[in-house]
Amino acid sequence: MKNTLLTLGCLAALAVPFLSTIAAGEGDAGQVAFNTHCRNCHSTKPDDNRLGPTLHNIFGAKAGQVKDFGNYSGSLTADITWDEATLDKFLADPKSLASSTTMTPFAGVPEAEQRKLIIDFLKTQSNS
Ligand code: HEC
Repeated sequence: MKNTLLTLGCLAALAVPFLSTIAAGEGDAGQVAFNTHCRNCHSTKPDDNRLGPTLHNIFGAKAGQVKDFGNYSGSLTADITWDEATLDKFLADPKSLASSTTMTPFAGVPEAEQRKLIIDFLKTQSNS
């Protein structure tokens, strides 16, 4: 009996994130990808800095300039402008773009398709 309950509990724990992924639907695939890979450390609300700076309006912005984020490593500088190419490189392998970045232990998103979804989502959170 105890084992059955344990098994049921495990199944429920597995099913909940799976179902919420489905419920979010295709159109929100970018939001889901962002939630999976980035939300632990980032918000897209204005002025909502967490472990990482807010990503509100990040698309098109220069790197390392988010107001009141006091935790930059110094390796993200205004020489970098966040566009498709720079974001794709940074999200694939943060240190390939900014060698001493503190965006760790985030190890990068290996799948190009997932990165594109996330970058498109960040665009929708910018210029508003
Ligand atoms: C473990 C926490 C963590 C995770 C997970 C994480 N980040 Fe970050 N992120 C940071 C930190 C810390 C910085 C500041 C890095 C620095 O100064 O070198 C940062 C910086 C950034 C920047 C540069 C912001 C600026 O002001 O120039 C972007 C863009 C970014 N992250 C996007 C993402 C995206 C998109 C994801 C998900 C695919 C992600 N991050 C996942 C912690 C995280």
